[in-house]
Amino acid sequence: MNHQAESPVDAGKNGKKATFSAGSHIDVPRVVVIGCSGHARVVIDILEQNHSCRIMGLLDTYRHPTTTVLGYQVLGSDDDLRALVDANICDSVFVAIGDNWIRSLVVDRVKRLVPDVRFVTAIHASAQISRNVSVGVGTAIMAGAVVNSGCRIGDFCILNTCSSLDHDSTMEQYSSLAPRAVTGGSVSIGAFSAVAIGAVVSHAIRIGEQTVVGAGATVVNDIPAGVVAYGTPARIIRQRTPGASYLSGRNYEPPTLPVPPPSPAIVHLLKNLAVLSSQAADWAAYLQRAPHDYFHRADFHSMAETLGSGRASLAVYGNSDKFLAWPFIMQDIEDCGGCSAGNLKDITSVYGYTGPIASGCENDQSFLLSAWNAMVDMWRSYGIVSVFARLHPVLANHRLLPHLRSDRVNSHFSYDEFGEGKTVAIDLLPSREETWKSYDRHLRQALHRLLALGTNVTLDPEWKYLDDFIRMYYRTMKRNNASAFYLFPGEYFCKLRETLGSHGSLIIAHCGDQVAAGGLLIEYGGIVHVHLLATDDAFVSLSPSKLIIHEAQAWARARGNRLLHLGGGRASRTDDSLFRFKSMFSDNFYTFYTGRWVVNQGAYELLTLKRENQANKLGFALSTSYFPAYRASFREIVGIGEEGDQTSPHAGLAPVS
Ligand SMILES: CC(C)(COP(=O)(O)OP(=O)(O)OC[C@H]1O[C@@H](n2cnc3c(N)ncnc32)[C@H](O)[C@@H]1OP(=O)(O)O)[C@@H](O)C(=O)NCCC(=O)NCCS
Repeated sequence: MNHQAESPVDAGKNGKKATFSAGSHIDVPRVVVIGCSGHARVVIDILEQNHSCRIMGLLDTYRHPTTTVLGYQVLGSDDDLRALVDANICDSVFVAIGDNWIRSLVVDRVKRLVPDVRFVTAIHASAQISRNVSVGVGTAIMAGAVVNSGCRIGDFCILNTCSSLDHDSTMEQYSSLAPRAVTGGSVSIGAFSAVAIGAVVSHAIRIGEQTVVGAGATVVNDIPAGVVAYGTPARIIRQRTPGASYLSGRNYEPPTLPVPPPSPAIVHLLKNLAVLSSQAADWAAYLQRAPHDYFHRADFHSMAETLGSGRASLAVYGNSDKFLAWPFIMQDIEDCGGCSAGNLKDITSVYGYTGPIASGCENDQSFLLSAWNAMVDMWRSYGIVSVFARLHPVLANHRLLPHLRSDRVNSHFSYDEFGEGKTVAIDLLPSREETWKSYDRHLRQALHRLLALGTNVTLDPEWKYLDDFIRMYYRTMKRNNASAFYLFPGEYFCKLRETLGSHGSLIIAHCGDQVAAGGLLIEYGGIVHVHLLATDDAFVSLSPSKLIIHEAQAWARARGNRLLHLGGGRASRTDDSLFRFKSMFSDNFYTFYTGRWVVNQGAYELLTLKRENQANKLGFALSTSYFPAYRASFREIVGIGEEGDQTSPHAGLAPVS
């Protein structure tokens, strides 16, 4: 008897099979299909032709919600499945992803997030399946496939068009036969293994787990686990990392979606939320009403846009009297692990201290919560995968984030993380003499020595020494092995001068007639930031940057500022030499948060996996400290330590004496 005729849709609950009678239109499973690729479209065909379930829509991390595929709407990503089940919109799911490993990741995730959802099976009416066969849940058997007596097919397998599994053969979970792949009797195919298109596997052969048998191969000997094998007779070509891709050949172009049209000044209106572009006049109007820093300004963001960092926006929740506003940079995720990410995006901060600002709602918890939720909705509607933000230690704007303020993890995210570090600032209210007395004793000695040697520090508001500063900055980064993130292009410094205008100044130390060190100061709203510091190679042992900070402190006080902010240590750490250097000047520390939110966990994991595969292919691993992981740089697997991450402005300064 034909197995398919008896049970066209197997609606087992998380691995336990339950039969379903064909043709019934009452209480049929309401299914969402996860995936939109060619494979998913074939599965949709099967489910439609069987009339044994209702397809309620699609979920896909790479497609924008509201996209339509074969007449079905993309309802969101797999993150949304919980809500769809809770709203009684669906009760079942089919994970239609062709890659065996990625399919397993998505299934695991679905099981974790929605343990009560059922997985259906899709078996084409023309497949010939012996009655003495067991088929696991979530498996797809395509048109013309033949499965002979005594076969056992595990959960979430694929038997593609016209493939054939002869008697008493076994396919373990997540394994696959590509179109026209054929086995003899009593063959066993290990979990996650793929037998590619047109391959022939002779009788009684064993293929291990996580192995790929290449297109057109003829397998006459057992193939072990974790290899790629092809040819006639098939030979092992190479070892294979579990999960390495095997479907993306040279000519394979992953689907991409058209880029959205350029945005007008107000690009998005959602509930109480407006998203302004960096050209919008309102940006400045909102900033005027709320405590903020230079790093929040439209011109600073516009500079980042010009330098290619992404698209800058200010999201504003509320109205001009009472609002929470958050500037951010939105970047396309273009090429992660050699795959196109469609129109997925992520969010980062400009290089400085930003995060949200607020007016009239600083203590209104329910308003702040609504604002946060609106931000999240907006991010999701833009297809955002992750959000990274360097918050402002002096403004302490982490308190505007309800879940940081109250230690409550927000239910929107399956993953939240906040890097917490410290930054150092010199309080400018005490007199110059009092500040001198409060310095570390060794610092005072070093300053005496510098002065005795005739080191001379001058302000350079015209940036006449910019070329010297850039040269010293690159040398400083090289000496300190700074990560590529801190190697700003020359254009960055020129744009910074142009943008900052009277808010920016260089401060230069001379030893004799030689330029020994320099600092780049940003002055705004009573705070002076030592944005960048650099020392010439020849003067490192003298540490002239100490005198730069000392003189910057006097200059900033004389201009009526209240704080000279020196920043923190490398990667927000307080146990490194850069932080120790800064803390010689002051023990006035601020808590510095970096927010790292994964908005679309499924996409985050897939992108990271692809990036990892790409690194492994080239013999590297991913730097582990970087967020988001799918943008991490490659590092040697053995020998070389971690690169710094991008958390802390000033982390790359390292004027270590
Ligand atoms: C196993 C597989 C992944 C190997 O791919 P790969 O290692 O990336 O191979 P490359 O494309 O880099 O090719 C490397 C070399 O091996 C050769 N080669 C690749 N696959 C081969 C195969 N199956 N048989 C014989 N030679 C093969 C290529 O021609 C190339 O030779 P060249 O260097 O002389 O030009 C691929 O053969 C395969 O089977 N993919 C799955 C196809 C499939 O089943 N698609 C349908 C899915 S529904």
